[in-house]
Amino acid sequence: MTQRKKYILGNWKLHKQSKDIISFFKTFNKLPISNKNVIYGFAPTHVYLDKALKLKKKATTNILAQDVSCELEGSYTGQISAKQLKDLKIAYCIIGHSETRQFLGCDDVCVGKKIVALTNYQIKPIVCIGEKASQKRNPQRALKQQLETIFKHIKPEQASQCLIAYEPIWAIGSGETPSLNRIKETATFIRQTMKKLFNGIVANKIGILYGGSVDTTNAKHILLQRNVDGLLIGGASLDPKKIAQIIRVANHV
Ligand code: PGA
Repeated sequence: MTQRKKYILGNWKLHKQSKDIISFFKTFNKLPISNKNVIYGFAPTHVYLDKALKLKKKATTNILAQDVSCELEGSYTGQISAKQLKDLKIAYCIIGHSETRQFLGCDDVCVGKKIVALTNYQIKPIVCIGEKASQKRNPQRALKQQLETIFKHIKPEQASQCLIAYEPIWAIGSGETPSLNRIKETATFIRQTMKKLFNGIVANKIGILYGGSVDTTNAKHILLQRNVDGLLIGGASLDPKKIAQIIRVANHV
């Protein structure tokens, strides 16, 4: 497998107002970040994308979107299109996060359509999948089903632009994580499933991330697991010092 950069991506969810984003970047912009081997970024709510783009001073800081519509234009009140994200020069967008599935009714078919919308505009989809607490003992069946449905109508060239974030729903914001061995097995299973759905070249190009209760104490151990190419981080990404520390760790694993 080719050596790839690690991804450290922060999901700010429905946190932070203008003043908090100003204060985050005031601190973060001054912190030393050795990011030669890391691609990192933060996803504020849509209303602050432009502000975050202006406030980030490091050229290497990416600003990501938290979601996108499957539609490109028209009568879709409350939505944001891939075309608009492209207009802002956003390069990555989270889709299928369990909270958008739960509260905004997005299912696996909808996630597939969002991959098409984003990749048509050269925006990399960060595709979230993950099992429920009731599927915790054997998550592979649920994950396989999710991947098969999401990628059913996706072409290899679109799939190879994706990152896949494995986020067990029960681990998000709970302080609990799967064992390191389980994270490694699951990341490997996701890579193998993508190989079956597409081919080895596509599967090796896809970055596989882990997300769910990652913090400064467990980030390094998780990043060291085979087939884990990065982390999608909620709570710990709100604090500039914590996330800078995780980026520095990722640069050296
Ligand atoms: P958490 O959130 O790091 O706060 O558990 C992760 C996520 O929802 O992406």
